[in-house]
Amino acid sequence: MSKTKIAIFASGTGSNAKAIIEHSFQANYEVDLIISNKKNAGVLNFSEEFDIDAMVIDKETFYEDDILIHFLQQRDIKYLILAGFLWQIPSYLIQAFPERILNIHPALLPKYGGKGMYGSNVHQAVFDAKEKESGLTIHLVNEEYDKGEILFQTKIEVLATDTPKNIASKILKLEHKHYPQIIEKYIAENSGVLL
Ligand code: GRF
Repeated sequence: MSKTKIAIFASGTGSNAKAIIEHSFQANYEVDLIISNKKNAGVLNFSEEFDIDAMVIDKETFYEDDILIHFLQQRDIKYLILAGFLWQIPSYLIQAFPERILNIHPALLPKYGGKGMYGSNVHQAVFDAKEKESGLTIHLVNEEYDKGEILFQTKIEVLATDTPKNIASKILKLEHKHYPQIIEKYIAENSGVLL
């Protein structure tokens, strides 16, 4: 059976992207394209390393054009996977890929989500609030930032000795373990629905 094509959208280091690519070799999906909004993003190194096409997109094309939809559809890409992508996804893209855009957030949504809650801000806020636990959330993307249907969550304990930095690294390790598996599972469960 042929593999389902996905595109990864990422703005930064791309450690999740790497985990997703590595898992793809034994999974039901294939990473067809990496899209970044930053031309120096670390994630683009994985395009070379794994011989995957990459594209750097500018704001105008992303928000004011539907060229991107045609491009993605032409490549037969079925799912969009956000892995540390910092631009909000425009409605036209959500409508073109309904329930087929996934995101990962390094906290237990609905807490510590929404505007400004990205990167170290999330872990600093969890630390400042003296939370006893944090975790990660994998969810569908809809028009409301960080508010789409939750597909998966898992928790870590926040110890009195933890710093925002090591809260972040504990969660990131779990992201690498779970995100590829949840993507695979979601695609398996929904593959009959797609033409
Ligand atoms: C991850 O913590 C993810 O949850 C968040 O952005 C970070 C991306 O890290 N959305 P990386 O670029 O995959 O290393």
